[in-house]
Amino acid sequence: MAKQRVFSGIQPSGVPTLGNYLGAIRNWVPMQDQYDTIYCVVDLHAITVWQDPKELTAQSREMAAALLACGLDPERCILFLQSHVHAHARLAWIFNCVARLGWLNRMTQFKDKAGKNQEASSAGLYVYPNLMAADILAYHASRVPVGDDQRQHLELANDIAQKFNHDYATDFFPTIEPHIMGVAARVMSLRDGTKKMSKSDPSDQSRINLTDDADTISLKIRRAKTDPEPLPSEAAGLEGRPEARNLVGILAAITDTTPDAILRDHGGQGFGTFKSALADALVAHLSPIASDMRRLLADPGAVDALLRRGADRARAIADPIVDRAHEIVGFLPPR
Ligand code: AMP
Ligand code: TRP
Repeated sequence: MAKQRVFSGIQPSGVPTLGNYLGAIRNWVPMQDQYDTIYCVVDLHAITVWQDPKELTAQSREMAAALLACGLDPERCILFLQSHVHAHARLAWIFNCVARLGWLNRMTQFKDKAGKNQEASSAGLYVYPNLMAADILAYHASRVPVGDDQRQHLELANDIAQKFNHDYATDFFPTIEPHIMGVAARVMSLRDGTKKMSKSDPSDQSRINLTDDADTISLKIRRAKTDPEPLPSEAAGLEGRPEARNLVGILAAITDTTPDAILRDHGGQGFGTFKSALADALVAHLSPIASDMRRLLADPGAVDALLRRGADRARAIADPIVDRAHEIVGFLPPR
């Protein structure tokens, strides 16, 4: 039987963070052996909010290098940039005409990102989920690993596929199975335990970047917000202590254990010893990734060549699928 096809994407809107790593990238790596995997740096999505052109170029390459350094292997997966494969934008236009405004109006990510000034946000930000549906369905991918924050977008993608199939009396697009990564893998800001760690947070102190060196990591952890109580001896005691819960969760995730096991060692202690154990574990885990990233970025041409080869392979899958969607819609064949 053919392997199930997996598709996922990540925006090159900054340096990837520990949140991206624990919540997404780390889970993409073992999937390479089990599934037919396609991973995309979604630069078209990134420009739904302003990106400085030079920075966008650099960040796209950096994100690709980060994914490679974390263990994506171009021999075992397809890794490419979204803007290199026109099938995404072609299918997204059709989906703009399938999705209903009422559906998009319910998207909480748009409300969060647009904030108070919806009138001033780009039309692209509004139709962002339609492009995401096109990313996945242009490959007939059926399994999509993402964080919990993307669940609503996947439900919308299924609504689009269903309406397309219904309106054009076809069964062309498959149903997508969301593969939501553990809630435990939601990493929060180091300055505010109720806010998600994000590469677009204005404060660099709020996150660990995959490019941070050992001293920076230690300093950020030492300065991370905590509360005055000692650590509890089991996870239940973290209730109502978002910062403590976040730091314990990070140490558990990075050392492949549970918060209970961490607290068996550190319960009753103040944050001092715990924080130095956390900083050591992070440095041990992340510094090989950072040095591999630096090695890859020393030869940007090689990274670009890898991405172009990935795009060729992606096109070979997506072009025939989107050509067929054009036929179903009734566009006169161009050749
Ligand atoms: P983004 O940074 O929005 O492009 O997200 C890329 C992937 O990383 C998605 O699957 C997100 O769900 C995941 N992700 C982003 N930030 C976090 C976080 N703080 N904790 C866990 N997962 C995250
Ligand atoms: N919207 C996703 C995020 O911000 C990124 C993304 C774009 C994506 N296209 C995708 C994820 C397709 C999964 C599948 O995290």
